[in-house]
Amino acid sequence: MASNHYGVPGLGEGDSAKVADILQDRLYALNDLHLTLKHVHWNVVGPHFIAVHEMLDPQVDTVREYADQVAERIATLGGSPKGTPGALVENRSWNEYSIGRAGAIEHLGALDLVYSGVIASHREAIEATGDVDPITEDLLIGQSGQLEQYHWFVRAHLENAGGELSTSGAETEREATVLAEAGVEETV
Ligand SMILES: [Fe+2]
Repeated sequence: MASNHYGVPGLGEGDSAKVADILQDRLYALNDLHLTLKHVHWNVVGPHFIAVHEMLDPQVDTVREYADQVAERIATLGGSPKGTPGALVENRSWNEYSIGRAGAIEHLGALDLVYSGVIASHREAIEATGDVDPITEDLLIGQSGQLEQYHWFVRAHLENAGGELSTSGAETEREATVLAEAGVEETV
């Protein structure tokens, strides 16, 4: 990472750069997530439209705030946060959200996978930063708790009374939408 001219006291330049690199990947993920959540807010249709449409806006706001926290931590560490769409698309290791206009349950099935990916990577970042920079670790821990609760909001729609997730085993968003829809038909 370039342009580390100063950092926080007590953290060497090398460690600052390492932590900022980890945070940059989280910044891409959070920017991708709030845009994706807004995309779903706009494209959800069908009988559960309003519930999902309205559930998502507070998530968008929080995730945007988390992107801001992560970007400003990168700057605090002496790095230069990259917030442009081109850099995001060029550097992300996941695919673009693949569902357009679709029913609530289909989008929620796909969002289950989206949240799983972001949260698992946040947890890896917590592990990777813990020894070097507990301040960054603490930031990511706080964010993860809230992201996990949002993931539960999504999953609660996909769960039956026995606690089984209709989307379990899905590896792609398409698969997840099909399984989520089938799960709803089963319980009707
Ligand atoms: Fe809106």
